[in-house]
Amino acid sequence: MPKKVMVVFGTRPEAIKMCPLVLELQSRNALETTVCVTGQHRQMLDQVLLAFGVTPDIDLDVMQQRQTLFDITTNILLKMKAVLEEQKPDVVLVHGDTTTTFATALACFYSGIAVGHVEAGLRTYDITAPYPEEFNRQAVDIVTRFYFAPTALSAQNLEQEGKRKDHIHITGNTAIDALRMTVRNSYGHPQLDWAAGSRLILITAHRRENLGEPMRQMFRAIRAIIEEFPDVKAIYPIHMNPAVREVADEVLRGEDRIRIIEPLDVLDFHNFMAHSHLIITDSGGIQEEAPSLGKPVLVMRDVTERPEGIAAGTLRLVGTEEARIREALHLLLTDDATYQAMSQAANPYGDGFASRRIADILEREL
Ligand code: UD1
Ligand code: UDP
Repeated sequence: MPKKVMVVFGTRPEAIKMCPLVLELQSRNALETTVCVTGQHRQMLDQVLLAFGVTPDIDLDVMQQRQTLFDITTNILLKMKAVLEEQKPDVVLVHGDTTTTFATALACFYSGIAVGHVEAGLRTYDITAPYPEEFNRQAVDIVTRFYFAPTALSAQNLEQEGKRKDHIHITGNTAIDALRMTVRNSYGHPQLDWAAGSRLILITAHRRENLGEPMRQMFRAIRAIIEEFPDVKAIYPIHMNPAVREVADEVLRGEDRIRIIEPLDVLDFHNFMAHSHLIITDSGGIQEEAPSLGKPVLVMRDVTERPEGIAAGTLRLVGTEEARIREALHLLLTDDATYQAMSQAANPYGDGFASRRIADILEREL
């Protein structure tokens, strides 16, 4: 009898890093794979499913406009109870640190079902940053049976917390598996044609703890820099959160060298990264992707759970205050030695075969 693996995810970044694993699991005869999406994100999730050709078996469709953490957690928890009772999987795989991840792991714990945590062991050890993700990832790791740690450092965090060594596996990050499928040598897009001949800054921002005043300061710094350097343009594929859109509209509107566009397909976004001069973001996943593309990233946060990218030289933490962000952007745009030092391609996240390793471990140990 094949062992039953259920893969659960709900937001864009989880989907990007779980779809390569789904495709790998589906190729294994010894495993029966079911895909359940929570639909915590709707449009941004569907974009990724389409790009990878993954069709969910179950869709909880929980997204609401301006949803609160209470909405997401309770809706998933209750709906997941019924799914687990019906499916009775041998293991449920969750990813990273979203509320989908936390609520699903909690549902598994209540139902006595084993959890496999993909991208386990990332830590800032400050449960307010990022919020609520640091809490989510720590809480999930209390109930996890299979820890799929992307790096030696994340495995070390888990060991130091007293997790069983034989439950921890270093696999690499499936983000690199996804990158192997998306980045093309010859790639064109009308938005890149618009930016041709300029230095392109690629922007993303969405963190819950940055909504409101921190985000206003972030955008003011970026606008000031664009106004200062006539040879610089910015493209901002904006998150669908209306709270993000309000601030972006207020601060960035009316500057011709900044284009705010709808979220890009993952294939497009990865190739936009490859064509950019630098990236400025508060995202988690982009911190993993940029080092292998050799693109400098200014991370608009005070702490990161991805110190590997800082060690690789690609990432720099710049906080969320206008003056500091502006200064960091200014330096990167004027000091070639700083720019070159941050542009070395170095990939701390594995060889792009993390999914294969995770599937091998499940085949062996289930
Ligand atoms: C969520 C995750 C965060 C992750 C981010 C990736 C939590 C608490 N947060 O944050 O860890 O980094 O996703 O992007 O799990 N919306 C749409 N369509 C979409 C997606 C979002 O309209 O496809 C809007 C909705 O109004 C929704 C709002 O965005 O209520 C916020 O979405 P939510 O998942 O609650 O939070 P994110 O900030 O996206
Ligand atoms: N991404 C994308 N389209 C976009 C912006 C980002 O496909 O318009 C990808 C990006 O390459 C990365 C992931 O989305 O893989 C990051 O998602 P996000 O920043 O929303 O979440 P986080 O990683 O912070 O949890």
